[in-house]
Amino acid sequence: MRFAIIGAGVIGRTHAACIRELAPGATLVLVADEVPGRARDLATAYGAEAAVSAAAAFGRDDIDAVAICTPSGRHAELAVAALDAGKHVIVEKPIDVTLRAAHRVADAEARGAAVLTVVSQHRFDPSSQLVHRAIQEGRLGRLTSGVASVAWWRSQDYYDSGDWRGSWALDGGGALMNQGIHTVDLLVWMLGEPVEVSARTACLAHQRIETEDIAVAVIRFASGALGVLHATTAAYPGLTARLQVHGDRGSAVIDGDRLTYFHTASADAGSHAATADLNQAADVLPHQGPVPAAGSDPGALSDAHLQQYRDFVEAIEQGRRPAVTVDDAIRALAVIAAVYESARTGESVPVVIRTRP
Ligand SMILES: NC(=O)c1ccc[n+]([C@@H]2O[C@H](COP(=O)([O-])OP(=O)(O)OC[C@H]3O[C@@H](n4cnc5c(N)ncnc54)[C@H](O)[C@@H]3O)[C@@H](O)[C@H]2O)c1
Repeated sequence: MRFAIIGAGVIGRTHAACIRELAPGATLVLVADEVPGRARDLATAYGAEAAVSAAAAFGRDDIDAVAICTPSGRHAELAVAALDAGKHVIVEKPIDVTLRAAHRVADAEARGAAVLTVVSQHRFDPSSQLVHRAIQEGRLGRLTSGVASVAWWRSQDYYDSGDWRGSWALDGGGALMNQGIHTVDLLVWMLGEPVEVSARTACLAHQRIETEDIAVAVIRFASGALGVLHATTAAYPGLTARLQVHGDRGSAVIDGDRLTYFHTASADAGSHAATADLNQAADVLPHQGPVPAAGSDPGALSDAHLQQYRDFVEAIEQGRRPAVTVDDAIRALAVIAAVYESARTGESVPVVIRTRP
């Protein structure tokens, strides 16, 4: 699989590291960035060619797949161009910043034969995999509620480091769209179809950004389950991303990507009174990775990114859909769009999802 990376910034480096890790099955052929020095530096480090225009990747027969790592509001235009050129696409989250743009990607994917996945690497964390599987197997019983909190800190320097950060046009939002989307995706993956959102947002700890640095919301799911969402980049010094999922037969807590609590009634053998303090997390997932730095964004190799890369390459080889589909990405984006609409109007708003055309 011969790759081109478009966008040689923070996350472009992670993608380059993933591709190298998959060698010899994967090779980085080209790095394109509209800032020539960035393209050159990353390309040189990986023995690839450099280009300033993304279009350089689309017309070449020796490139099979394109990794799109540009600012979020530029994802759809590049993904559509790549798909229409017959390239497989792995695009960073969010799929784009508007549902309209996301639907253009879905349409382009549907009219071609190439595979597209949108990065949501935390689905591949062992903790997320275990909890999702437990839910599918009914071990948590009827799901009743979820609590997702991303209490991170981003300095003013972070927002000043790129004109696009914290802008509606290119970031598409603030703490929720950029940082919180991973946890929104996990919450929706666990709890099912979201139907209604009531939300408030604010910008309290940063200047010179158009968007929120805190978002809170209540989400109602089709099953009747209720979710609470909290995403902020204004929680100094930056804590962890935490997800709680509760059902009438079990509960799970993922904190900082690690399973910190897991308890199901099926393990209370012979006992009628569930012993809520019996935390089985260490038994069901004993070999967890290290706790990631609080609020960190990957800039180097991330194991979860690598797992998603493996899935992407296998999906292409096996002619199957990837684990994270365009529909999954649209669903998470639709929740975030509903949060912003509810915060703007002060009303509860429906979550409008149009997935497959
Ligand atoms: N999955 C994750 O955990 C994660 C982490 C960080 C960032 N991201 C996502 O990755 C994307 C990029 O974020 P970043 O922090 O790396 O940004 P960045 O600003 O560090 O890098 C973006 C790069 O894209 C280049 N670029 C912009 N438009 C271009 C174009 N049309 N053609 C070629 N190059 C172009 C810029 O010059 C810049 O070098 C965002 O969508 C962000 O949400 C995901």
